[in-house]
Amino acid sequence: MALVAGVDSSTQSCKVVVRDADSGALVREGRAAHPAGTEVHPAAWWDALQAAIAQAGGLDDVAAVSVAAQQHGMVVLDEAGEVVRPALLWNDTRSAGAAADLTAELGGPSAWAEAVGSVPVASLTVTKLRWLARHEPESVARTAAVCLPHDWLTWKLAGGTSPDTLTTDRSDASGTGYWSPSTEDYRPDLLELALGRVPRLPRVLGPAELTGGRFGAGAGDNAGAGLGVQMRPGDVVVSVGTSGTAFARSPHPVADGTGIVNGFADAEGGHLPLVCTLNASRVLDATAAVLGVDLDTLSDLALSAPVGADGLVFVPYLEGERTPNKPDSTGALHGLRLGSMTPAHLARAAVEGLLCSLADAIDALVAVGTPVSRVLLIGGGARSAAVQRLAPAVFGCPVLVPAPGEYVADGAARQAAWAAGGAAEPPHWSSLEAALVEADPSPGVRERYAAARELTVDR
Ligand code: XUL
Repeated sequence: MALVAGVDSSTQSCKVVVRDADSGALVREGRAAHPAGTEVHPAAWWDALQAAIAQAGGLDDVAAVSVAAQQHGMVVLDEAGEVVRPALLWNDTRSAGAAADLTAELGGPSAWAEAVGSVPVASLTVTKLRWLARHEPESVARTAAVCLPHDWLTWKLAGGTSPDTLTTDRSDASGTGYWSPSTEDYRPDLLELALGRVPRLPRVLGPAELTGGRFGAGAGDNAGAGLGVQMRPGDVVVSVGTSGTAFARSPHPVADGTGIVNGFADAEGGHLPLVCTLNASRVLDATAAVLGVDLDTLSDLALSAPVGADGLVFVPYLEGERTPNKPDSTGALHGLRLGSMTPAHLARAAVEGLLCSLADAIDALVAVGTPVSRVLLIGGGARSAAVQRLAPAVFGCPVLVPAPGEYVADGAARQAAWAAGGAAEPPHWSSLEAALVEADPSPGVRERYAAARELTVDR
């Protein structure tokens, strides 16, 4: 039996799955935690990967391994391949001013959307490089190469030492802000605009290409999840992880001048229009912590409260927000009354607020012409019964909830099987086990949320 492995190096942890290359059956797995914070030394990811690999019984017997990881993180290396400074992650908002400056310097949002498929927000790598240029010229002087979390981990696994041998894939390259999904080329002029010079960049591999003998191209985590759930045209995947994302496959590049939809590439040679929020599963974690309950009890409380929480609205911008682009905004509770000052109402409002922000994300995909025939709900936050049961009511359509799983790591493993097998398409693994959840619409909930969303104040 040929084995393959997939890695998900996400914001909060590292997961490794070892699967049968033909059937996709799970053989072994492991996981390890990442440190908290939005600035992390890549060495911590490497340590977690080693621990997760050891727990998964090692990789000596696998034919190929692919790494998927959190997108956009800025990893800067010196001439000797050493990390210059800790990585700035996708959810670090210190480069919000740099994003605004870069947007203006190229001639506005549409110019960026046309050039690289996305309008700069603090998450994109290009804005972090501008921040570096403005705040740490000494780090810029030492920087010989720039890469992303999955590029760096793949390179380390393959025994890389020289920055010349770095590789990436289309999906993650498309989140940098200096690679164009339409021309499939880097835009060194935009890198120069941000950083003042052009360091070396990873070579962009095709979706089923191998590097170093048995290492797949890897992917950004959302594109990895798309492979993991064996996404079909017409599917919209909504992922409730540290980030909230809604994304779909598209045969052509998407350029949204409003900046709401990112026109990313996918991990299968096509495209992946995607909307991303900064506040998702941690809204549930934080609300449960405030109430002093666990996540199951939070879910029970939410389901025990009336639809719309008697008018209590929770705007979940606890970390500022990326979509809408309000990096300095704060969360808010609106509509408190004596009768709604209960744990159940707060729990309900938190779940509904989170789902409303994701419903806005689905609407934005529809607005750029994305066909929606199924909505699939995945990610840690989707394990909450309240999220599952209220999602169809807030989204206004039935929702498919795949069985809990590590879909990003699975997608990476499926890519590894594809690359190792040399077929034209990724292998078909056994069909997704999923429950269809339906619910009556919840009138007024989105309207009240939309009104409250406009009232947020900056910190
Ligand atoms: C997508 C994004 C997040 C991270 C989270 O643009 O920034 O989904 O990839 O890991």
